[in-house]
Amino acid sequence: SLHAPMKVVVVGTGYVGLGTAALLAYFGHQVTGLDIDQGKVDMLRRGELPIYEPGLGELMAECGDRLQWTTDYAAAIPGADVIFICVGTPPLPSGQPDLRYLAAAAQDVARHLNGKMQVVVNKSTVPVGTGDWVARIIEEYAPDYKEHQYNVVSNPEFLREGTALFDSLYPDRLVLGGNDGAGVARLLELYAPLIEQDFQAPAHVPRPEGYTRPEVVATSLSSAEMIKYAANAFLALKISFANEIAGLCERVDADIEEVARGIGSDARIGRQFLSAGAGWGGSCFGKDTSALISTGEEYGYDMPILRAAVAVNQGQRQLVIAKLQKHLHRLQGKRVAVLGMAFKPNTDDLRDAPAHDAIARLNELGATVVAHDPVAMPRARREWGHLNYTEAESAEHALIGADAVILMTEWKQYTEMEWNGAVRTMRQPLVIDTRNALRCALSTGTLEQIGRRGQTPAP
Ligand code: UGA
Repeated sequence: SLHAPMKVVVVGTGYVGLGTAALLAYFGHQVTGLDIDQGKVDMLRRGELPIYEPGLGELMAECGDRLQWTTDYAAAIPGADVIFICVGTPPLPSGQPDLRYLAAAAQDVARHLNGKMQVVVNKSTVPVGTGDWVARIIEEYAPDYKEHQYNVVSNPEFLREGTALFDSLYPDRLVLGGNDGAGVARLLELYAPLIEQDFQAPAHVPRPEGYTRPEVVATSLSSAEMIKYAANAFLALKISFANEIAGLCERVDADIEEVARGIGSDARIGRQFLSAGAGWGGSCFGKDTSALISTGEEYGYDMPILRAAVAVNQGQRQLVIAKLQKHLHRLQGKRVAVLGMAFKPNTDDLRDAPAHDAIARLNELGATVVAHDPVAMPRARREWGHLNYTEAESAEHALIGADAVILMTEWKQYTEMEWNGAVRTMRQPLVIDTRNALRCALSTGTLEQIGRRGQTPAP
């Protein structure tokens, strides 16, 4: 790259931390990824990834010595120009994010700051006001603290799991929030290759046709923090809106896929995130909508639109089981195949996955569950020990002798499966497609989708 390389430390090696570290090293910066988990650091040093994310390993391999891993704050922090904090903020029972990892990371960073201008960037999703709180932690813990020595910037992340690299390399916007210009100015330099798009696109993640560059949105700290939540909340409510309309479509004999296309082609609305189905899952939408609602409560401010979006999403999970019951009546003793466990395709992330709730409910109702996922089964063995199901060695195997199959995650290998052959091995050919992902017509049996007319072929 033509730009002056900087020294960067990225604290936290989850999706956001690994993506940020790889991206900045790829741009030519010298990056140290820091995690207090020695096991994760050992894995990364061996060239292994603690998460599944397509293409990330390849990009990291191309960075060579520019990407290093450590558990040692004292060694990493003093030499850094910019320090990113990308630790988890998991939800507390109250709905508010748990900031203890952020507090610990901010203190450990602060203790080793060098007294010259260093920029601390928060990339974790945090409530409005957290940037100021991090600044106060630095003030308290940094040795020989003087004002204007350090600068806290909020730089929220908008990448999606499964397409993390594409989203990081070709984002719609870059949001930089800070309360004085110096921190933001340094980040504009750091991100110059991204802003100017003058890097060589990696062969496995080519630049999309027509893409030029991200819009730079420079804001106050609080606005940047609000942008992150408001963006996720809007996407979540867009999905819930599609699901609400889908329910009405079923009752009036309209088709949500046609309706989504028809309204989505209006540029003011847009087709993305209007896919009806089992509803949203994952680590972000549920957490971020409840965090906004509970921030509202803290200030005595009601957020009825968001509360409704959450309620509609919970209803979609019940709808999956209701669709089964509509055809099978009692589920006691029935054999149900569940295809897909991850909350969406191309990830092994199981957090808040609709498949979890479906299996749990099927267990309660006395059904026998056979489940399959192309990548998430090993993780499910570790994290879903409380659920009762057997693993199938393939999707086709899962269907053999089943009374019904529920497609929970629209993995390509499921949507492209030879359904007509597979359905013939079932005891009863009932297919519940909770993602409206099956494009082929079944030659026998029943296909139930969400917000569409049930397809029951003539005998
Ligand atoms: C989401 C946002 O899309 C990212 O921009 C953001 O950075 C990220 O959260 C975050 O805050 O870290 P992610 O949770 O990885 O990304 O996944 P999405 O692709 O947004 O999907 C979320 C859920 O919505 C999935 O369960 C998906 O199946 C569901 N969905 C999505 C629908 O039900 N319908 C749709 O039309 C789109």
